[in-house]
This record gives sequence, structure tokens and C-alpha cells, in this order.
Amino acid sequence: MHRSEFGVIGLGVMGKSISLNIAEHSFKISVYNRISEGEETIVSDFLNEHENFNAIQGFTDLKMFASSLERPRKILIMIKAGAAIDTVIQQLLPVLEDGDIIIDGGNSHYKDTQNRTNYLKSKNINFVGCGISGGEEGARKGPSIMPGGDLEAYRQIAPILEKIAAKDSWGNPCCTYIGSDGAGHFIKMVHNGIEYAEMQLIAETYALLSYSLNNEEIASIFNNWNQGDASGYLLEITSKILQTKEDGKYLIDLILDKAQNKGTGSWSSATALSLGIPNTMISSAVFDRYLSSFKDERVKLSKKITREHKNESVDVTQLKKAYQFARIVNHQQGFLLIKEASSTYNWNLNLSEIARIWTNGCIIRSSLMENSITILKNSNDYFNDENSFSYLKSNEDAMVEVLQFGLQQRISLNTISAAYNYWVSMTTEKLPAHIIQAQRDFFGAHTYQRIDASDSEYFHTKWEEL
Ligand code: 6PG
Repeated sequence: MHRSEFGVIGLGVMGKSISLNIAEHSFKISVYNRISEGEETIVSDFLNEHENFNAIQGFTDLKMFASSLERPRKILIMIKAGAAIDTVIQQLLPVLEDGDIIIDGGNSHYKDTQNRTNYLKSKNINFVGCGISGGEEGARKGPSIMPGGDLEAYRQIAPILEKIAAKDSWGNPCCTYIGSDGAGHFIKMVHNGIEYAEMQLIAETYALLSYSLNNEEIASIFNNWNQGDASGYLLEITSKILQTKEDGKYLIDLILDKAQNKGTGSWSSATALSLGIPNTMISSAVFDRYLSSFKDERVKLSKKITREHKNESVDVTQLKKAYQFARIVNHQQGFLLIKEASSTYNWNLNLSEIARIWTNGCIIRSSLMENSITILKNSNDYFNDENSFSYLKSNEDAMVEVLQFGLQQRISLNTISAAYNYWVSMTTEKLPAHIIQAQRDFFGAHTYQRIDASDSEYFHTKWEEL
């Protein structure tokens, strides 16, 4: 039997799809899945279903799987993030040799990836923490791939990853070396954070439109927006979702309004909080999901209030401008978080290149992401980019109008508001933060700086006699 060039552990939805993608690109591949309850025939079923790919070898024995691989072994783990990754690493160690490469393709926390990198280095094994975006379809047809870890190890797996990745509009792979240790998983985490806010923005936009329009009408507006500068994958699928029927009924109207999550959004928020970056939109989108899950309470409380339904509708032209406005702020906040992490962790991240690999294959691909390649190359920041800034400046009124509509009709718009307030705060010379400083000094002698003294001087006042 030939030796395989690549191995995949875990034949879940993503593992299967990526294995087929690799095999389709004429790489010889070995796949492994453990035998456990409900997964007894997963490997044989997979091989039977895909007999036409004769370069796939399947295993349920890890030692045989490892022996089937070319050295240095290149093994992609596609299983649920968390403790299971450490279990598989421990099972793999006895069957690996110095210089082999383990790639974690799940949504692992970047700090876990940093720890695993160090641990495996001490065992002479290279570890690549690799963000993969695009869901099942992306994995099968071309995902956006965000690998981090040892550069030399990346070079050895690059020919395969770059082949199976989606391609940008110039035909280049949506895969690039991100940075050392946890950088790839960090970037995937922020990708998901941006994704949360983008999804919530569409949800709030839907809430505004559905005040007066039906599913078909909203779908057609989204479809129309999707032809121009507001276009994006998430908008495109939402338009399709709104038109989908089951037994003659719109499926969307049958779906319970409790949004779930697997944690990457809250990790982005927690990271922004710990790095001191005001990532208000991701946090708002995470809290909106949490809030939605209090369904029983919402139902109970809503019965105590009757809200008049007015015969009014939101101005669609203004709403589109507000939607784009909020998206620019979301991207600004997301990339500022990346910029901060880059200096904190010495990752030397290339923001423009990150935007480039997010232009195809991933969930947040959009026209704005296409434009972001240039914006981030030239100014590293949307607010310092002349065109983006003037767009925000000239569409501030659209935000106000849309928010006013929401306030009047009692439609909660937490994430659109977060975008607006961030913009207003960032463009306000004097904020009331001096009140906070005075209060801190009053009750806790925390000191304050003064406008009539240098930045390095701190003052304390005895505000009243004890
Ligand atoms: C992707 C997605 C993918 C997954 C999210 C969903 O880039 O392909 O982001 O990773 O769909 O993790 O996350 P939640 O379950 O937390 O919404």
C-alpha cells in the first residue's frame, strides 16, 4: 500500500468534507475515526460511499493510521474543541516521531493552542493551530484557512492547505501563514466575533423591516442590497432563508427565537475586555444571543405591556446606509482587536492579508471585506481611511433616523446602537470621563490627570473633610 501524504482524524461533518476536498486535489490521504458508540461503521461507511476516491485509506487503529503516513507525518485533527483535543494528542504521541506535524483545525481557544504548542515542542512535535472557516460547504469546496504556529512546519503543509483553500478574486489561495503559536486560532476567534455582530446586524435590520413588510418583501430588499456594495455571504443566505417554505409555511416563522452559541463570540469579547479594546459590537451581539434565550421571561413580561402597532415603515434607503455604517464600525472594532493582539503577543500580523483570506470561503466574506484589503494596507484603520471616514460622517444622520424608528416602535437595536455610540464617542473631543476620574479620586484616592499639567503627573484632592 502507498504511503499517504496527509492524515485526517475525525470523520464528523467537517472532517469528512475536508478529507474529500483533499482527496479531490489528488493528494493521497489516510482518515481515522475512533470506534465508539454510534460511530462503529463511520470509517467503512465513508470509504464505501466514496469508492471513486481510491487514494483514501481508512483506519480505526491509530498505530496503523500513523504507519500509513509519509514522514514527517502531517495530521489534521478535526474534532470538537476542548479536552478531546488533548486526549487525541496523548493518544498520538506514542505513534509519532520527531518532526511530525499535528494540525488542530477546530475552533480551539488560542491560549490552549499556545499551551499545546509549547508542550508539543518539548516532545519535538510541531503544532499548527489552524482556523478553518466556511462550514460544511467551505470545507468541501474551499474554506478560508488561518494557520498559526511554527513557520517551517507551515511551509511543509502549505502545498496541501493552499490547494484545498478557496481562491480570492486574483486566484490566490485564501490561506496564509498568520503568525506563531496561537495566532491562527486567535484570528479565527475574531472572525467568529465579527460574524456574530454581522449576523445580529442583519437580525436587527430584519426586525426593523418586518415591522411593516413580509418575508418575501424583506428577502427581495436583501437580495437587492446584495447586488451592490452591501453584498455579503450572510446577507445572501438570509435572503434565501426568508424565502424557504416547509409545507406551505415560511420556515423562518416556525423557528424558535432563542439563539445559541458555542463560545467563540464570548471569547472574542472576553479577550477584547482583557486587552482593553472597546469591542462593543461583538459584546452586544453575544449578549443579544444570551438575552434571546430568556424566552419564558420575555413571554411573561410581554403580556404585561400592550404596544400600539403604528402604520409606519422604516425608510429602506436610510436603513441600507445605517447597515453599511454599522458594518464598517464592526470591522473597525474587530481589526483593532487583532492589531492590539498582534503587539501584545508579538505576532506581527498583516491586517490586509487577513482581510484578503477572508474574501472567499469564509462566513464573513463580503464586498466590504474586498475593500478592506486596500483600506487596511494603506491606513491599518477604517477611521483613518478617508473614504470610510467620509462615508461614516455623511451617513450619521441615517443612523439617527433608523435608531429613532426603533425607539419609537420599541424595537431593540442593541448592536446598531453600539455601532452608533462607538462612532459618536470616538469622534467626540470631550467625553464625561473626567466625572469618573473625579469620583474615583473622591472615594478611593485613585488620582487623576489634569488638562493643565503634563500626562505623567497624577493628582489627588482631599474632596471633603473626614
Ligand atoms: C465558520 C463558522 C463556524 C461555526 C461557528 C458557529 O467560520 O465556519 O464560524 O466556525 O459555524 O463556530 O458558532 P456558534 O455556534 O457559536 O454560532
